[in-house]
Amino acid sequence: MDISKPVAALAAAIVALAFAPSMAFAEADAEAAKDLAKESKCTTCHSVNKKKDGPPYKETAEKYRGKADAVDTLYKHLTSNPTVKVKGKEEQHKSPKTDDEAEIRNLIAWILEQ
Ligand code: HEC
Repeated sequence: MDISKPVAALAAAIVALAFAPSMAFAEADAEAAKDLAKESKCTTCHSVNKKKDGPPYKETAEKYRGKADAVDTLYKHLTSNPTVKVKGKEEQHKSPKTDDEAEIRNLIAWILEQ
């Protein structure tokens, strides 16, 4: 009997199980991210492509491309209400309307994928 097939299948299953959680984390849930952005009114100042009062997400993704601390930097930006300039006036930047860190991180992951 050839046992190499079941062994290979088992090995593949173990590899798939080991990587599944990290893969789920790496790829953002785009629908959840867009819903949160809309609910939190991020869309009044940001769009994916067009410059509004805030930079387009594509520009942010470009700015942080290859930067290891991108997620942490943006997490801080989105949770500490830093002062930003909107139409020449200083105001506090908005935070997403959720207390769930995972939801905020998903939104950031999606922004960085644009
Ligand atoms: C009233 C307008 C306004 C709203 C609402 C707003 N932003 Fe911003 N946002 C800005 C401005 C202006 C900047 C530019 C800040 C700077 O570069 O100093 C900015 C910057 C950013 C950046 C880039 C930060 C960086 O380090 O480059 C991200 C990402 C971002 N906003 C996401 C969001 C999200 C997500 C929401 C919703 C929770 C949101 N913004 C709501 C105006 C807004």
